Amino acid sequence: MSSIAKFSASSVAIAAGLGLSVGAAVTFLLGRKLNAMNKPKVWGKPPHPNWEPPQQLAIPDHIEESKMVALDPKVIGGKKCYPLIISAVVPRPVAFVSTVSKDGKQNLAPFSYFTAMHDPPCVILCICRAGHRGGGKKDTMENIDDTKEFTVNVLSEWFLEQANHTCGNYDPEVDEMALSGLTKLPSLKVKPPRVKESAVHMECKLKHKYETKGYDGEDTATVVVGEIVMFHVNEGVARKTPSGSTYVGLDELQPISRLGGNTYGRSRECFDLARPDRDWQKR
Ligand SMILES: Cc1cc2nc3c(=O)[nH]c(=O)nc-3n(C[C@H](O)[C@H](O)[C@H](O)COP(=O)(O)O)c2cc1C
Repeated sequence: MSSIAKFSASSVAIAAGLGLSVGAAVTFLLGRKLNAMNKPKVWGKPPHPNWEPPQQLAIPDHIEESKMVALDPKVIGGKKCYPLIISAVVPRPVAFVSTVSKDGKQNLAPFSYFTAMHDPPCVILCICRAGHRGGGKKDTMENIDDTKEFTVNVLSEWFLEQANHTCGNYDPEVDEMALSGLTKLPSLKVKPPRVKESAVHMECKLKHKYETKGYDGEDTATVVVGEIVMFHVNEGVARKTPSGSTYVGLDELQPISRLGGNTYGRSRECFDLARPDRDWQKR
């Protein structure tokens, strides 16, 4: 039986049960079905929906039956910690960062040592030195140092291959936005353009930076804190909280995260888990 036929049959059965007219039942059930279709597709159940504190949860055999290994980073060596860090600190969001050099050359690259805060709204990036430039700065860092401005564009599935293509070791004069077929949008408060294909853009000004040195004393990276001076949110992903604040719909955004190696991830099955109230026992 087709799903429409099943749906009509169940409508008639329920209508009879409730003593409603078939028309009223169809309208009611159609409304419910449409409502369900509008709900995010990504929502699933938490891993242990019936868990109650302080119940112990089962640890999988491959963990329970193996022992912990202590790894001293000074023994491993700073550079060799790279595969461990990028595979263990996952998933990471990806900042797609647009900058302009002091003589006007445009640059775009992805960065997943990336996080954020909200008052004042800031982004935090870690831009490593470039191995292929003998430890010199990447173009993004050179440009932020020179102009104190950048934009962060949120990565979504629909333009991922284009975004990934921008991360090659290109020379400073290469415009990665043009190279990857992405489209520039002018910003309102900073010179670097935004990426039209992205649904959420943040115009940023350099607020703080912190230079790091490796175990050998060489410069290894810069931690950049950028204050967000303007947000741009595509209406196609924008939603409102009950009190009217704008937020971004996960289903519409289709965000892509960075995992270990060259692996990316989708946020396809998510679930809500309420924060415990201090009075959780009185629930
Ligand atoms: C998904 C992804 C995440 C990346 N994250 C970082 C990062 O957090 N820090 C970094 O220094 N390089 C990171 N890279 C590498 C830079 O994108 C790459 O070195 C790029 O060429 C820098 O460009 P630029 O010299 O034009 O600034 C990442 C690359 C990819 C594909």
